Amino acid sequence: PSVLILNGPNLNLLGQRQPEVYGSTTLDDIETACTTHADTLGLGVSFLQSNHEGVLIDAVHEAKGTYQGLIINAGAYTHTSIALMDAVASVEIPMVEVHLSNIHAREPFRHVSYLSKVAVGQICGFGAQGYLMALDALKERLVTS
Ligand code: DQA
Repeated sequence: PSVLILNGPNLNLLGQRQPEVYGSTTLDDIETACTTHADTLGLGVSFLQSNHEGVLIDAVHEAKGTYQGLIINAGAYTHTSIALMDAVASVEIPMVEVHLSNIHAREPFRHVSYLSKVAVGQICGFGAQGYLMALDALKERLVTS
């Protein structure tokens, strides 16, 4: 089985962007760690980062038939995008939502996630490790379903 990992706006700046909030790990580092971890789990993995809502939506649509799992850190679109939520609901691929920071401990506008409504579950607050935890969760789900 293969998993598509989508990262949304501003996550291309990881490592430089507010390191006190998001850590010093770059998106490249995260993707490398995910590839290694997916390997040990026997999962294929692909990546896409975009700052554009429509590109993320297209990627979700195109995942159907190719990927059995989705991991999405939608950045700020998490809190605004009904369209991305609808896209995930449309493809019926199990999706785990990831955030580096603990969004529930931050500003009130970050406490609401549209994506959570269509997620298997949400992992937040564990930094880059959250992506690896999401791979573990999907592995379990794909084996037992
Ligand atoms: C984030 C949390 C969002 O609120 C924020 O807009 C981001 C990153 C996280 O990974 O902690 O861009 O998704």
